[in-house]
Amino acid sequence: MKKAYQRPIIIKINEGMPSKKFGIRRVNKHIPEIEGIPVEEIISRYGSPVFVISERIIREKYQEAKTAFETRYPKVQFAWSYKTNYLDAVCRIFHQEGSWAEVVSGFEYQKALDNGVPGNKIIFNGPDKSKEDLRLAIKNQSLIHIDHYDELYEVLTLAEQMQERPQVAIRVNMDTGIYPQWDRFGFNYENGEAWNAISRLMHSSKVDLRGLHAHIGTYIMSDKPYHVAMRKLADLAKRIHQRWGHHISYIDLGGGFASANTLKGAYLPGSDTNPTFDQYAQAITDAIWAADFDPNNMPYLFLETGRALIDDAGYLLGTVLANKRLPDGRRATILDVGVNLMFTAFWYDYEVYPAKDTGFQTETTVLYGPLCMNIDVIRENINFPLLKKGDHFVIKRVGAYTMTQWMQFITYRPNVVLIDMEGQMHVIRKKEDITVFKNQELVPEHLKNIKL
Ligand SMILES: Cc1ncc(COP(=O)(O)O)c(C=O)c1O
Repeated sequence: MKKAYQRPIIIKINEGMPSKKFGIRRVNKHIPEIEGIPVEEIISRYGSPVFVISERIIREKYQEAKTAFETRYPKVQFAWSYKTNYLDAVCRIFHQEGSWAEVVSGFEYQKALDNGVPGNKIIFNGPDKSKEDLRLAIKNQSLIHIDHYDELYEVLTLAEQMQERPQVAIRVNMDTGIYPQWDRFGFNYENGEAWNAISRLMHSSKVDLRGLHAHIGTYIMSDKPYHVAMRKLADLAKRIHQRWGHHISYIDLGGGFASANTLKGAYLPGSDTNPTFDQYAQAITDAIWAADFDPNNMPYLFLETGRALIDDAGYLLGTVLANKRLPDGRRATILDVGVNLMFTAFWYDYEVYPAKDTGFQTETTVLYGPLCMNIDVIRENINFPLLKKGDHFVIKRVGAYTMTQWMQFITYRPNVVLIDMEGQMHVIRKKEDITVFKNQELVPEHLKNIKL
């Protein structure tokens, strides 16, 4: 085949440069296939753009995390954070691996039930639980994590009315040394509010206080805050035992472990800097052991890890729509993938690679999406190969929060394809079309006819 012409360029040799901050030699990489299936083939079958999820990577990541914790502490339970990715097929992979469900709305709660999760293995977080949601959760013996006093009083009232014992935990916020502090959820540790809420519950004979919960934030780039959080929750658990002789059955440290993605403005890639599951596990379990719980009543450690378990398993495949030159001289490449599908591109510098070898040349490029909006930028400044109209590309690590936070804006949401353990492809969410919208919208009688 005739090779494509590449214009001659002078490349500065950066050999020996230690890091991205001080300059690093760039190796042009391309991703021709996902799980052994050519990108061209996936796009020709399912269209462009298309999300692709690897079942193998989900299962391997989950096992990696589970092993890291279970080798250090005997009582560990993961609960899949639905908001991170609530496609049923994805949730069911986690449930097959043994994960419970962690949900934050009536909608997510219903999804977990429909996926076959028993009510008593659903953790119900979040500030927005309607009376109906609470009723159902109480009836199903789900673990209700109380966020504020209004909810606490509502649960006590419902317990009275329903003659059922709600299974509850208190959500606690605290200073773990990371700022800004996530202090809007739950009851504060330092000012004594968490202790007061616990006391209120313990004085009621109508509820079972099963656990203590803290979700200290997301993409936490250090293991230290988790050590602090566990110390503080263990302190509360021990005080509850001293005061009421009651053993807490679990401590839930929420989610928040960083994935290998890179935050905007970071000097070094997340894959180089962020803690491993082993590091997080060591920090957390050190704090539990140090709390010296009664060996016969050690609390379970619950984890609601989201992004760190699924980011790596997701790819977004797409096509270049056009190239243009901006007035300041920069190259701009327009993709068929925008912030409608990648809301997360507002804070991550995603890795984008061509699907085929495009030669050695690169240029500082802006990667725009297809929306008719100025803010539709996937990468503001990327040293990128010179892709042409029609060329395909792959965006890595898009498994978390893309397929839940995506917007139906201007264009349809695309197919999502799962590649199973045998390398078979399955559509797990169909591309939208005009009928989706026709089914939802109603036109009043007087607007049915228009004459132009
Ligand atoms: C209560 C709760 N648990 C778990 C998670 C999952 O967090 P992450 O994806 O950072 O692991 C979240 C996400 O914000 C959350 O709010």
